[in-house]
Amino acid sequence: KDYLQKGLPLSGKKVLITAGPTYEAIDPVRFIGNHASGQMGYELAKVAANLGAQVTLVSGPSHFSVSHDLIDLRKVTSAEEMYNEVHSHYKHIDIAICAAAVADYRPKTVADQKIKKKEAEFSIELVKTKDILLSLGDQKENQFLVGFALETENELENAKIKLKKKNLDAIVLNSLNDKGAGFGKPTNKITFIDKNSSIKPFELKTKAEVAKDIFDEILNRYHA
Ligand code: CTP
Ligand code: CA
Repeated sequence: KDYLQKGLPLSGKKVLITAGPTYEAIDPVRFIGNHASGQMGYELAKVAANLGAQVTLVSGPSHFSVSHDLIDLRKVTSAEEMYNEVHSHYKHIDIAICAAAVADYRPKTVADQKIKKKEAEFSIELVKTKDILLSLGDQKENQFLVGFALETENELENAKIKLKKKNLDAIVLNSLNDKGAGFGKPTNKITFIDKNSSIKPFELKTKAEVAKDIFDEILNRYHA
């Protein structure tokens, strides 16, 4: 097995990746979630492991799975659980990539019984979840920190604002504009932006190929 040999670009390095959606419970049988499949994060984990890294993959609910000697898959459900799991590893991490589509809001309270239908209108009070990536940027020591951005307008401008606000080393802009890119699709169209504002657009590719491109860019910039 190639990845067991020493001297690979990420041998001895620890990589942390978040993947998938999060589910925020409303009651025992319902939740707020999104259509993220988790595939991008799983592909990133495989590329990192094949480059020799010890990978911790923190994943929200996803039908993808992975079995690799160098990948430790940690399954979580909510944003809160993802936050706690990520922070239990972060101190010892060399490269962290947040590819998860974390819910921005969760129900303020979780009903302990299934909510019965009553009036014609019904609303749920929501409160913000913790921004995991923002907290990683705040607590950054020597980690190389990469985020994702999904924008529907002013893509580059908004991605650059996120990169700065979250104290990232780079951000991967995910474009939904092109046919075939994004949620539930096997392809992505990305632009890699680093903290020096170097901007590199890529063609529409499979998520496995996109994951390789992302690690090429990281390896060009990450110096232990
Ligand atoms: N992210 C996170 N925790 C959250 C929200 C987002 O770690 N609670 C991370 C995502 O994994 C992604 C990056 O932050 O790497 C950007 O996510 P995105 O949804 O594009 O941006 P937000 O900062 O949530 O802002 P908005 O949704 O308003 O555009
Ligand atoms: Ca968001």
